[in-house]
Amino acid sequence: MTRENNVIKVLTEDHRRMEGVFGELESRQGRPGDRKGLADHALAEVVRQWTAEERYVFPEVRRQIPDGKALVRHEIDEHHRNDSLMKDLEVFGPGHPHFEDRLREFIDGYRHHAEDEEHNLVPRLQESCTEEQLEAMGDKLVRVRETAPTRPHPGTAETFPVDRVLEPGPGFINRIRDSIRPGAL
Ligand SMILES: [Fe+2]
Repeated sequence: MTRENNVIKVLTEDHRRMEGVFGELESRQGRPGDRKGLADHALAEVVRQWTAEERYVFPEVRRQIPDGKALVRHEIDEHHRNDSLMKDLEVFGPGHPHFEDRLREFIDGYRHHAEDEEHNLVPRLQESCTEEQLEAMGDKLVRVRETAPTRPHPGTAETFPVDRVLEPGPGFINRIRDSIRPGAL
């Protein structure tokens, strides 16, 4: 275990990284094919982040934080509120009449949720968990980030091992979720 992976740091880094991708999407540069690739990349990142939180952070929140069960219920409700629009984005191409609306809602939903986490979840974690507990949760999120299948950013030269690269399209979201199993780390 390293001292670098405090869960609060990992969560906030994830939020900042998504802002970078959303900024690219909002600038509307690039070809339509790349725009879909970028949207798929954003979708894969968010599904991975939220699934990892649900599997590795929320059980600890329920255990360690007084009233943690209510906090987790609220967090999970917010994740699920975005399910149907993420399912649409999974299959809509950039030419679909609702692609841009759904993408807008997805970005707004993520921003709302990230802000909510930073105002509600983060201070509660800080108050109620030990440094070791925060590090243990952060380590798991980083392990998931390093090992879960993904959809690489279309503009990066970074190469991913073949078995980490997911084909987009129907079932894309479920394949990411299924790869992140509790107890697998
Ligand atoms: Fe969350």
